[in-house]
Amino acid sequence: MSLKKLILLPASLLALACSKGNVEPCDLSSGRLYQKVNFPVGVAVEPEALYNLPPYSNIVQGQYNSITAETIMKPEHLHPFEGVYFWGEADSLARYCEANNKRLHGHTLIWHQQLPQWIINFEGDRAAWDALLKDHVQTIVTHFRGRVSGWDVVNEAFNDDGTMRSTVWHEHLGSSYIEKAFRYAREADPDAKLFYNDYSLALNPKKRRAVMTLLTDLRAKGVPIDGIGMQGHIFIGFPEVSEFVSTMNEIWRSGFSVHVSELDVSMNPFGREMPLASETDLNRQANVILQIFQAYRQVPSQYQYGITFWGVGDADSWIRSYFARDDYPLMFDDQYRAKPAYCKLLEHL
Ligand code: XIL
Repeated sequence: MSLKKLILLPASLLALACSKGNVEPCDLSSGRLYQKVNFPVGVAVEPEALYNLPPYSNIVQGQYNSITAETIMKPEHLHPFEGVYFWGEADSLARYCEANNKRLHGHTLIWHQQLPQWIINFEGDRAAWDALLKDHVQTIVTHFRGRVSGWDVVNEAFNDDGTMRSTVWHEHLGSSYIEKAFRYAREADPDAKLFYNDYSLALNPKKRRAVMTLLTDLRAKGVPIDGIGMQGHIFIGFPEVSEFVSTMNEIWRSGFSVHVSELDVSMNPFGREMPLASETDLNRQANVILQIFQAYRQVPSQYQYGITFWGVGDADSWIRSYFARDDYPLMFDDQYRAKPAYCKLLEHL
């Protein structure tokens, strides 16, 4: 359904009962998810929907107390040309967070994707690349100082086999770019929590070991790394929830805060035609999400940064467009009705 059509949907949809499943039906007026737990519960948002689509903004407003920008705080948006920073959209989001009492999490400073063309094409020696990295990190972190609670400083620096990903940053600065990025970020904002963020940490032991080893070594050298974001792009049963939980526990037991960042639970790993989510899958998805929340509750509070969902409703999920497949990975359906996952959390937390 297009955004335009959705804008026309009546707000009363919000009160519609939870779709299908043997989970007790619920409606959105029955509670606030973030009040059920004593850690932040976040969601990735797009401003256009947040400001213009009432069912979407009511869910964000009522259910989550932490916000991540799904795209507008990435390098190609904030730093589109050399020496040019574009703050407008992100400043508006920061104002929204302040006005609505939401925490703003910064995503992301250094990544190989959604990089502006001028950085990809930048020509210069190591010193020039170092200066570019420093200016990029420090200008952005300084701008949001006091308004952003934490940053994904470096995103997805490793390959699945545990080697370092070859990116423009790695090509020009070697693996030192990671250490530099964290040090520059800390200089610019001593209070923001600084995260390394990556996917498949639970699914892939090789990658997990490489990430944990590097971050532990860097921290021992005094590099200011506060926490690890475990992107939660998972499938029902894959990895097992137990593997996900043991990775979470390994992270905090190693002395890092743990952020379950980017949570979505896919139902369609093989990209089959799937015009509807089955009742079985909706319930299995609900169980996975509940088990992750229950386990996260057990993490000592000083290591809990929160759990963040990567999108509001299934229609908004990046999974559909990015992987071009039918999928239903979030807690609200295409019409912003609560799915069993949400109802189950509300009932059991
Ligand atoms: C995704 C967004 O959701 C999409 O809208 C965009 O087209 C591509 O990026 N890992 C990350 C996120 O760290 O920034 C990605 O977000 C999803 C994977």
